[in-house]
Amino acid sequence: MKESQANKVILLMSFLALVTRGKGISYQTRGQNSHILPYGQVSKIIQLKCGDVYDCIDVHLQPSLNHPQLKDHKIQMQPSSFPIGLDTEPQFLHSESQVQPSIIDCPEGTVPVLRNNISGTSATHDIHVMGSMGIERAAAGIEYRGDVYGTTVKINVWQPKVNKDSKDVSATWVHINNGVGEHTDRIGAGIMVNPSFSGDISVRFHIAWTEGLEKKVCMDQSCRGFVQVSRKWAPGVRLDHVSVYDGPQWAMIIKIFKDPKTKNWWVTDGKNIPLGYWPNGLFTFLYDKGNFAFWGGIVQGPTATSTAVEMGSGHFASEGYQRAAIIRKIQILNENNTYVTAEDDLKLAHGTSNSTLYTIDKFRVDTDGLGMYYGGPGLVA
Ligand SMILES: *[C@@H]1O[C@H](CO)[C@@H](O)[C@H](O)[C@H]1NC(C)=O
Ligand SMILES: *[C@@H]1O[C@H](CO)[C@@H](O)[C@H](O)[C@H]1NC(C)=O
Ligand SMILES: *[C@@H]1O[C@H](CO)[C@@H](O)[C@H](O)[C@H]1NC(C)=O
Repeated sequence: MKESQANKVILLMSFLALVTRGKGISYQTRGQNSHILPYGQVSKIIQLKCGDVYDCIDVHLQPSLNHPQLKDHKIQMQPSSFPIGLDTEPQFLHSESQVQPSIIDCPEGTVPVLRNNISGTSATHDIHVMGSMGIERAAAGIEYRGDVYGTTVKINVWQPKVNKDSKDVSATWVHINNGVGEHTDRIGAGIMVNPSFSGDISVRFHIAWTEGLEKKVCMDQSCRGFVQVSRKWAPGVRLDHVSVYDGPQWAMIIKIFKDPKTKNWWVTDGKNIPLGYWPNGLFTFLYDKGNFAFWGGIVQGPTATSTAVEMGSGHFASEGYQRAAIIRKIQILNENNTYVTAEDDLKLAHGTSNSTLYTIDKFRVDTDGLGMYYGGPGLVA
């Protein structure tokens, strides 16, 4: 297979712009201008069994629409079309049960917005600052450098251990970029344990983005911009099933794609249930397409690589199925709105930023996409 690349260690640092509330980051609290939830317009409050509370807000009054670029934005409730691609599940040696994130039940015409227990979660900060303030990062994954109009990926759901009182983060993430240096637009989605953002150490589904000109990193509803359309799931939703070592395996399919008509960037689950979209007007560099994509594990934070922050299942990639985390069925969307497997060696790379802490194994190119095992325990004292 791709032996020539087997040991290629790639630099995975350029894209690591997730939200981390480390020292040096300035915060905007809800009281200060932005992101004041219109509680007056909440039509229903839903508390899930896990304790999470959602406000069901009129879809046309969601805070996101207050973004200056979205004045007069007309909400698109459904993608104009769905990408073309094999949606059949081929016969796998192994198969995981699918996690269903759509567990909330807001009334028609409303969307759920998670009430974050930590007040003032608007993480508004500068990427300049992030690069220079000693945030440690590690990543293990696959990179693609070429035109990207979307992607689909199947993520094995684990709950990596992250210290509850830390500002560290462990994620399995996919993202698409375009731009150069600081001036890069980024959109991404995945699952993450992020105690300083969520207030707990459970694994949740999140989205994040950077508007390259603003140089601001945003997650979920912490900034305006991402338009929710689903009344059944929301950014920040807790995943109700997690894989067990040597036990049942759970997975989640995430799709991101550019609407060929409206050029909005959609996020849907494996059953094509749209969560929402980044309106195209938000971006300068992602206007037409991405030129870079990443899939894999990311650990980041002030003490991320100096303490034991797990990635994936917390076990090294070589342990294999039911023990290490697996990511697979990675495909990219091409200019003709069709999912294809990226096979061009010159555009693909895979590796880990530090193989002492986190490894990858069994990278492979199958007809249904790219895949690999990844992860590790982090620094073990
Ligand atoms: C948030 O607060 C509610 C009510 O106070 C509580 O039941 C729930 O467990 C908290 N959730 C988290 C994630 O801390
Ligand atoms: C997209 O379709 C056009 C016209 O059929 C074709 O020329 C082009 O090669 C296709 N692109 C890809 C990436 O398959
Ligand atoms: C990898 O991490 C270990 C443990 O923290 C450290 O000793 C080593 O210098 C790191 N290697 C690289 C290449 O950063």
